[in-house]
Amino acid sequence: MLVLGFETSCDETGLALYDSERGLLADVLHSQVDLHALYGGVVPELASRDHVRRLVPLTRRVLANAGKGLADLDGVAYTVGPGLAGALMSGALAGRALGWALAKPTLGVHHMEGHLLSPMLESSPPPFPFICLLVSGGHTEFVRVAGIGRYQRLGRTIDDAAGEAFDKTAKLLGLAYPGGAALSRLAETGDATQVRLPRPMLDRPGLDVSFSGLKTAAITRFRDDPRRTTDAERFAADLAAGFEAAIVDVLVEKTRRAMDQEAIATLVVAGGVSANRRLRAALEALANERGGRAYCPRLAFCTDNGAMIALVGALRLAAGESDDLGVTIRPRWPLDELLPVA
Ligand code: KG4
Ligand code: ZN
Repeated sequence: MLVLGFETSCDETGLALYDSERGLLADVLHSQVDLHALYGGVVPELASRDHVRRLVPLTRRVLANAGKGLADLDGVAYTVGPGLAGALMSGALAGRALGWALAKPTLGVHHMEGHLLSPMLESSPPPFPFICLLVSGGHTEFVRVAGIGRYQRLGRTIDDAAGEAFDKTAKLLGLAYPGGAALSRLAETGDATQVRLPRPMLDRPGLDVSFSGLKTAAITRFRDDPRRTTDAERFAADLAAGFEAAIVDVLVEKTRRAMDQEAIATLVVAGGVSANRRLRAALEALANERGGRAYCPRLAFCTDNGAMIALVGALRLAAGESDDLGVTIRPRWPLDELLPVA
């Protein structure tokens, strides 16, 4: 089954072609980062308009890259949530309309299910059950995954998502939006021991995390430390390193607890923040220590992409799911409301 996937939940227009037998055939991405960088964050109306502008040329390109035509498609999948309403609407309507015109089935996909299953795009996919740490700009969740659509949330952030905390701290240090990757690069030149920041929630049982206090601690330290003026460059790098070390410690410790609680040694790390090298290395070490293995998507598929949406679309369409003629977007949509694939 050949499925075209559209991802438009936020600020990337991602399209891909996934074949149930042959795997991923092609994927293309247009990032709106430059468009929003001017404003220091995503401007929803600009995001929707840009998705509308890109969808048709990118559809042509992804088909051409795979040597396929519209007539070869067996179905179309598009992200319907969670995300920005206008951005979701652009991709969902385009995908639904294309399916209708071709008389092919279509399916609205959960963006976080896309992230969660994205390691299945790689040559050695994770076996079920596994623990998944989902870390993106909008979500931070620990999920027990028993199969496709069999998701049990074990813990989550009670305030900021990890990516959001990265981006806000990056902004504080004068880095362009979205600053997670830039902050991580800056941290490589810093010394985390020079700026010790709190590790929130580690003293409490359970698997919830909180990052807003850590962000406030970073802001206070930035404002009050005299090195900010006397030794500005090295101080910024040390603060970046101290911040990254605190977030990685919290995520690794809570992941350890989730793996122990569920007695599962297979780990998946997905979502934009899973591109973080220090986090990946620490979680790989954790899974090895437990006699298991950590699975991460390739870097290009950590952040938003069309491949993960085409993959979920192919899995669920092949199982007989499809949308009716209406399009319902779900800007807020808990992952555990999804139905298992038989
Ligand atoms: O999954 P994603 O592309 O979009 C959402 O679904 O939210 O995640 C984007 C987030 C942003 O907050 C970005 O700063 C963060 O992922 N990110 C990183 C890194 N690369 C992307 N955070 C830390 N280290 C990185 N290397
Ligand atoms: Zn995402």
